[in-house]
Amino acid sequence: MIKSVGITGIGYSVPEKIVTNADLEKIVDTSDEWIVERTGIRERRIAAEGVSTSALAAEAALKALADAKLSPEDIDLIIVGSASPDMLFPSTACLVQAKIGAKNAGAFDLSAACSSFVYGMSVGSQMIATGIYKHVLVIGAEVLSKIIDWQDRNTCVLFGDGAGAAVLSEVEPGYGILGIDLGADGTGADALLVPAGGTRMPASAETVANHQHFVHMNGPEVFRFATKVMGASAIRAMEHAGVTSDEVDWLIPHQANTRIIQSAAKRLHVPMEKVIVNVDRYGNTSSASIPIALAEARDQGKIKKGDTLVLVGFGGGLTWAGCVLKWSKEE
Ligand code: ACO
Repeated sequence: MIKSVGITGIGYSVPEKIVTNADLEKIVDTSDEWIVERTGIRERRIAAEGVSTSALAAEAALKALADAKLSPEDIDLIIVGSASPDMLFPSTACLVQAKIGAKNAGAFDLSAACSSFVYGMSVGSQMIATGIYKHVLVIGAEVLSKIIDWQDRNTCVLFGDGAGAAVLSEVEPGYGILGIDLGADGTGADALLVPAGGTRMPASAETVANHQHFVHMNGPEVFRFATKVMGASAIRAMEHAGVTSDEVDWLIPHQANTRIIQSAAKRLHVPMEKVIVNVDRYGNTSSASIPIALAEARDQGKIKKGDTLVLVGFGGGLTWAGCVLKWSKEE
């Protein structure tokens, strides 16, 4: 029998160091006014030297486990979504498994850029729904600051570091994940990428000199794509779940830009009072943004048992992913 699967524990971790728009004015030709007006971002968190993605991921994972009242040995599978993994391989998930001591868990990374967390939820939930596993840890984690070109004002003002984690387990029938929509358009791969360091363009002195190990982005193209797919993906997930706009209690979108978030909310007919927004304080934390926003909103007491949540993201790939979730945790 297919089981109902939901989030039974959630946690997040962000670095202490805050970098404001005023700080960025000192290193690139930008202004607080431009950044706030075009993106809504006021500040972001930046990891200290020596702190990698797996470190933030492990902190978030331990918080999610404590919230779920589980120990690391209870976890059957770890899925980490990241566009800024510790290394090409081994997977960041394996490093997290070692760091938290989840010795009974399988572990792998999933690459769908900012959509990775929702992609990870869809994969992990299937393993529980079919009875193969009991508890799956899904993590979105990024230390993008280490692969950002701090001389490129088109990108360096947008991103931040952080991690969010969720424990998926069986929940009472009617709760948990009700609908999912995953999508991709690989013809747009060049709109958002790290060009070098893989097999297509191996690392060389020239690639380093050309800044090709950093994130490159065609901002307007990604913007057009995002405004098109975010609402559409959420609507497909809602149709799958049989949920209408007026039944949505909280929209928790990928936090890239307030203008993109507003456009998705408008398309979905969800008022901004029901939209979780924290991009002003964290910038775009890619795969971590949705679980951080969800965990923060829960910690602030906004989310109650029985609430209908719509999570939706988009990102490099190009990819998109939507998920409808009936919150099952008693707070
Ligand atoms: N400060 C000042 N001026 C800037 C800055 C900056 N930081 N960055 C760009 N500009 C300039 C540009 O050079 C351009 O100048 P020009 O007209 O003289 O050429 C001007 O501002 C306007 O640039 P646009 O790119 O047209 O500005 P736009 O309104 O499109 O906003 C932005 C740019 C914010 C990047 C927007 O396109 C956007 O948000 N795109 C989506 C980005 C995104 O979400 N990426 C992450 C995807 S998720 C993932 O997978 C990681």
